[in-house]
Amino acid sequence: MIKLYIDDWEIHAAEGISVLQAALDSEIYIPNLCWVREMTHPPASCRLCFVEIKGYDRPVTACTTTVENDMEVRTDTETVRELQRTSLKLLLSAHHVDCGHCPANKNCDLQNLARFLKVKLKPSEFPAYQPTGIIDTSHPGLEYNRDRCVLCGRCVHTCRNKNGQPMFTFSGRGSGTVVTPLPPTEGQALDEAACRVCVETCPTGALALKTPE
Ligand code: FES
Repeated sequence: MIKLYIDDWEIHAAEGISVLQAALDSEIYIPNLCWVREMTHPPASCRLCFVEIKGYDRPVTACTTTVENDMEVRTDTETVRELQRTSLKLLLSAHHVDCGHCPANKNCDLQNLARFLKVKLKPSEFPAYQPTGIIDTSHPGLEYNRDRCVLCGRCVHTCRNKNGQPMFTFSGRGSGTVVTPLPPTEGQALDEAACRVCVETCPTGALALKTPE
């Protein structure tokens, strides 16, 4: 076991785990969105989990930093909070904030993060997101709403982990990147869609099961 300090609390953590996992396991919350517990190579794409560590010359992402003996981590400095707020504002600016019409309303990680970091859901620092109206219904069991997706990749990772063959992939580039359902394997798609892991891990309301006609 490794002994480290997070916000002056002495924590014991298994060797090799991330600072983020060690903190969350000890009920110390660090904002995060793109990390999933069993990930071995987190994408670190949301940039929400910044922490400061004594001896490090700049803040680092807690999901990609491995615990070390006697490490001293701070999760709540002004620098850290400013970085986290900026990351969240960027995510919100790439998302159609339309909570009243969203199935994830009141059960949405973006709403929870905004409350925790005291950020408005429609930050004025960035231009408002222009909705595309794109809803991909090509998958037989699921539908994907581009305007609600923050490209965290949790659905891609979780589906691959559960089903071996992911039912989604990223396609496009830059601001045109979307999550695209892959063509289903004959006879398997509806069963796998019914496992719901992708819908359950989605932090917003971007993925939903189709309602039977
Ligand atoms: Fe660490 Fe997203 S959780 S960058």
